[in-house]
Amino acid sequence: MYRAKTTRYSRMKYRRAGRSGLLMPELSLGIWHNWGLYSDYDVMKDMIFTAFDNGITHIDAANNYGPPPGSAEENLGKILSCELAGYRDELLISTKAGYEMWPGPYGNWGGRKYLMASLDRSLERLHLDYVDIFYHHRPDPDTPLEETVGALADMVRSGKTIYVGFSNYPAELLWKATAMMEETYSIHPVLDQVRYSIVDRHIEEDGLLQTVADLGMSVSVFSPLAQGLLTDKYLKGDIPENSRAKENRFLKEETITSQLVARLNVLNEIAETRGETLSEMAISFILRRPEVATVIIGARNSEQIRANLNALGKSREFSDEEIGEITGLF
Ligand SMILES: NC(=O)c1ccc[n+]([C@@H]2O[C@H](COP(=O)([O-])OP(=O)(O)OC[C@H]3O[C@@H](n4cnc5c(N)ncnc54)[C@H](OP(=O)(O)O)[C@@H]3O)[C@@H](O)[C@H]2O)c1
Repeated sequence: MYRAKTTRYSRMKYRRAGRSGLLMPELSLGIWHNWGLYSDYDVMKDMIFTAFDNGITHIDAANNYGPPPGSAEENLGKILSCELAGYRDELLISTKAGYEMWPGPYGNWGGRKYLMASLDRSLERLHLDYVDIFYHHRPDPDTPLEETVGALADMVRSGKTIYVGFSNYPAELLWKATAMMEETYSIHPVLDQVRYSIVDRHIEEDGLLQTVADLGMSVSVFSPLAQGLLTDKYLKGDIPENSRAKENRFLKEETITSQLVARLNVLNEIAETRGETLSEMAISFILRRPEVATVIIGARNSEQIRANLNALGKSREFSDEEIGEITGLF
């Protein structure tokens, strides 16, 4: 059993998710990458311990994280049950379903049969009786929204999740789904989990941030470092061995063009002027928005988590000039 540091709550700040009782750490850890079957278990343990010891109480999973799908939850479940069993009430564990998980017509999207079965399988892998947040991972254009919303509501009523949220739902759909869940089931969804970073500010522009505020919800932000672009990793223009771009799957090598590298270097200079690293500024840029409940970072080791935790001591104030310079680049 791991003994967490007694100082674990001395540094982190917690933000309320919309008008709910859910308090989320400003930084959360996601297990999309580096948590599969062939990842190093000791490194995973070290990442979770480092996170929890520094007040990162929220770990974000999904049914399909791996590879293979499910293995990230299995690894997390092993750590939770073997090392952190005594700390369940101090941890927020979220998971999701909405992408392909098993073959056939019942292993994908937003139908009731898939969602219900998927949560049960996630709980088995995680060795948990309940998760804290269950998200529908992406909109399903074909299943009636009533069915997806009803399945999420029943998950809350059955006690298998405490809160529910949506992920990748655009403003209008979020509005409909939330109204339906509140009016029909008296359940208030708390979050929309969305991509947001200096290089991808679509939620500032398409009305989503305003919508979550109007609905009494918040966003949980994924890929705040644009999968590593907003770190010092690619500033020299090469693609390091241990990098997501080298894997060439979700971040393609061809994305790292000389034009992009030049713009990242300008961003880095702005960060230096502020007395910050690029990744610290990227995290502060997201946390400057009150609609954000938490920033979910990914990491390949605990050093990256420690580096990103340094963003917590940095200013979230950006002058109009800085915002203009930053947004002018992307
Ligand atoms: N709901 C959804 O549809 C959805 C989609 C995507 C992600 N998510 C969630 O969001 C989480 C985070 O997404 P993400 O992994 O794309 O986030 P990210 O924080 O933008 O990228 C993380 C990657 O950046 C690099 N990195 C992080 N800190 C670094 C540092 N200090 N210095 C140098 N490199 C650093 C590492 O990649 P290297 O391998 O290059 O070292 C790390 O794996 C996921 O784990 C998942 O939980 C949700």
